[in-house]
Amino acid sequence: MKGILLAGGHGTRLHPITLAVSKQLLPVNDKPLIYYPLSVLMLAGVREIQVICSPIDLPQLTRLLGDGSQLGIQLDYVEQAEPNGIAEAFLLGADRIGDDPVALILGDNIFHGHNFYEILQQNRQDIDGCVLFGFPVDDPSRYGVGQTDADGRLISIEEKPSEPRSNRAIVGLYFYDNDVIDIAKNLRPSPRGELEITDVNRVYLERGKARLFDLGRGFAWLDAGTPASLLQAAQYVQVLEQRQGVRIACLEEVALRMGYIDAAACHRLGAQLPSSAYGAYVRSVAREFA
Ligand code: TTP
Repeated sequence: MKGILLAGGHGTRLHPITLAVSKQLLPVNDKPLIYYPLSVLMLAGVREIQVICSPIDLPQLTRLLGDGSQLGIQLDYVEQAEPNGIAEAFLLGADRIGDDPVALILGDNIFHGHNFYEILQQNRQDIDGCVLFGFPVDDPSRYGVGQTDADGRLISIEEKPSEPRSNRAIVGLYFYDNDVIDIAKNLRPSPRGELEITDVNRVYLERGKARLFDLGRGFAWLDAGTPASLLQAAQYVQVLEQRQGVRIACLEEVALRMGYIDAAACHRLGAQLPSSAYGAYVRSVAREFA
């Protein structure tokens, strides 16, 4: 399975903060926002990942993450000239995706919860169609909303409905079989001029090949698209990290636990951050594994 991490967009709801810096590079407590979605793809066992970003943000993203080899993964950067919609990612990434299934994640989405590794592994197996993920929200009319039958098959998708049929928001993580490339090639821009991910999902729905996995109430899904949600995300992470003494989305730790790097390599990465508590954590995790 190949991965796509969408880190483009103008981040207009965060202006003026994002006038000069990508949303994905903003801090969420102790690390840049992009660490969170990247850790999800890594946890899903996806090691070849395309980072889609605006040309202006590419140098900084590369400076932060490089080619990924230090984490035992492969990162390729693909420029998206303008934010023409989430589904454009499949057109930009088609060559590198080849015949593989794809996991797509939005660069401003944060996931945290028990058994996430198992959830990801279970849902990426033998994909026939698409797997979307649902999360119960208080205000479904702000989101794309999915309704399922008793077997978890998706039976409707509504975009920002005034009278939602369920409280399950469709979150920014999607698993697709390789048909997604052809589906994306046949999309037309929506009235707002974007290639919409909802339109991709509707095609799978019409084919009877869309499933929705319910993340449930014991899980956290946050996005960091507005000043309030960015702050809330930071507070959530800060409370948990301080209370538990473990870090959420520490890429070096994920790489180590997934077997992408060994303890010595992990320790070297921690040693490159000698003055930060994050670096000390990376070194302590490496020592635990040695
Ligand atoms: P959005 O939050 O829909 O867009 P945005 O990030 O530009 O923010 P705003 O609405 O405040 O202007 O995007 C969700 C994620 O997808 C975000 O991480 C950016 C990314 N994205 C792209 O990379 N390319 C695109 O064409 C779009 C629409 C989004």
